[in-house]
Amino acid sequence: MLLLNNQIFFPCMTILILITVMLLFSGITSRGLPQQVMDLLSYRKQSGDHYLDEQANFDEPRQSPRDDVMKLLPHGNSCNCQGKPERHPLADDKDAWNRREHEYQQHVARFSMPENKLVISQANFPLSYPTQGVRVHPLGTILIPGLTFQKQTTDLHKVMLSCQHGTLNTAMEIGDVQTEGLGTKCLNITSRNPMALNIQMKSISYTNTHYLLGDAEHVTLEYGGQIAEFLIKVQHPQLPRLYDSGTGNVSELVTIITKTFIRYEKVRNLITSIRKFYPDIRIVVADDSEPWQNITGWKVDHYKMPFGVGWFAGRNLAVSQVATKYLLWVDDDFVFTTDTKLEEFLTVLEGTTLDMVGGSVTGNTFQRRLHIFPETEGGFCVKRLGGSYHKVPGFPRCVITDLVINFFMAKTERVRTVGFDPRLSRIAHTEFFIDGLGHLQIASCDYVKIGHSRNLQDSTLQKQYNSFREVHNNPGFKTQALKNLAFKNRLTCMAW
Ligand SMILES: *[C@@H]1O[C@H](CO)[C@@H](O)[C@H](O)[C@H]1NC(C)=O
Ligand SMILES: *[C@@H]1O[C@H](CO)[C@@H](O)[C@H](O)[C@H]1NC(C)=O
Ligand SMILES: *[C@@H]1O[C@H](CO)[C@@H](O)[C@H](O)[C@H]1NC(C)=O
Repeated sequence: MLLLNNQIFFPCMTILILITVMLLFSGITSRGLPQQVMDLLSYRKQSGDHYLDEQANFDEPRQSPRDDVMKLLPHGNSCNCQGKPERHPLADDKDAWNRREHEYQQHVARFSMPENKLVISQANFPLSYPTQGVRVHPLGTILIPGLTFQKQTTDLHKVMLSCQHGTLNTAMEIGDVQTEGLGTKCLNITSRNPMALNIQMKSISYTNTHYLLGDAEHVTLEYGGQIAEFLIKVQHPQLPRLYDSGTGNVSELVTIITKTFIRYEKVRNLITSIRKFYPDIRIVVADDSEPWQNITGWKVDHYKMPFGVGWFAGRNLAVSQVATKYLLWVDDDFVFTTDTKLEEFLTVLEGTTLDMVGGSVTGNTFQRRLHIFPETEGGFCVKRLGGSYHKVPGFPRCVITDLVINFFMAKTERVRTVGFDPRLSRIAHTEFFIDGLGHLQIASCDYVKIGHSRNLQDSTLQKQYNSFREVHNNPGFKTQALKNLAFKNRLTCMAW
């Protein structure tokens, strides 16, 4: 560069800058096409490609990426918390980091089910076999469905089957077929008669001998050097937990639950408003106030908790007391109005397979989607995005989403399977939905509305309430909450 005079230097720099700018723009796509995607797509001879030698006479075709599809593909770990290079919440706590990884390995060992493993069938395989949906009871025996042999030739055919957590056998003896390894983990079947072999394949049985070793059996089928794999789930049938809806009136189907803290005026106001519209629906109140006041009334159950145990602990206690098919969550400062039609929630829940439907609190539905980015060494990243997925079929004013406001009706059993983490005492909303992601099907319907009356008439009490919340809103508490999540959900960051 030093040797260049200005006349050459400046045009060169201009070109350089132009190229950099172009690269930056094209970076949107080139970064969108990480090496692993290109590797997947590029033509390569694979070990399973037995017949590719025959293709050697053809020219390799032109290959060019389609950007509109490419940009939809996952871009590696692009979860950078809105571009801020944030410190990992556990960066200063090596011990916590190590404990978290230890717990995570235990979790992976329990929940990385073999049925989640990618299994690929190879080309030109003369055997048919099941790809999914095969189940066996623990230590039970089944005939493996769907096994056939589809070759016509009369050369010596040999099919080998093997498994890991059980034994293989045949339920029928077939003439012209030789079997080796009956009742072991490795069964060989040989015959020159393709029809006999085909009949034999239909009577192969599997017996599970190990229940806890992974929750699925991995069966390998081999013929002529080609291998296919499929899975048999080792599983007890899961029994339903049903609720009797009786005559189907709202009071028999729904329990209203809430949690209060020193705002007795609010919660009494809420109960009065409920009673105007639903005179005999059961109401459960969890309460961690001090000093304690009585809340009494027809079908009102008031549960006292230790002082300040918090928001999610209270929700959990309330949920544990519900004995109806559905629960309705409301905050203690909500007010039922003529637009608070629980029947509308019920129509959606009973008419779909949804687990939870949220409404609107004075116009706010708080619809959000959650996106989990692929894990990195530092953990997962959760991003909260606005909006919803699409309309609920049959209910055009309801949308599928991942997060709703604190006014929702839900299937009691489904909420119990997720639970409210009692470690989250004050700042907690999204956290429940993070725990519920993949477990709960959620929608939001903006036409079911409830009122909100924020401030207490007693201004001294209001100040006391605010100060309590402010203590917990201080930055130190937020950092602690973030650290807890970084540990609990193995997060590296949350972006919203
Ligand atoms: C089945 O065949 C394979 C390959 O020929 C052999 O290694 C294996 O020992 C045989 N299994 C039995 C049970 O005979
Ligand atoms: C709803 O069912 C309850 C319990 O069976 C009953 O007491 C109540 O009268 C019913 N309410 C209505 C509005 O039918
Ligand atoms: C609550 O009600 C019970 C029963 O009516 C009564 O014995 C108790 O003193 C009341 N407690 C308070 C704090 O008012």
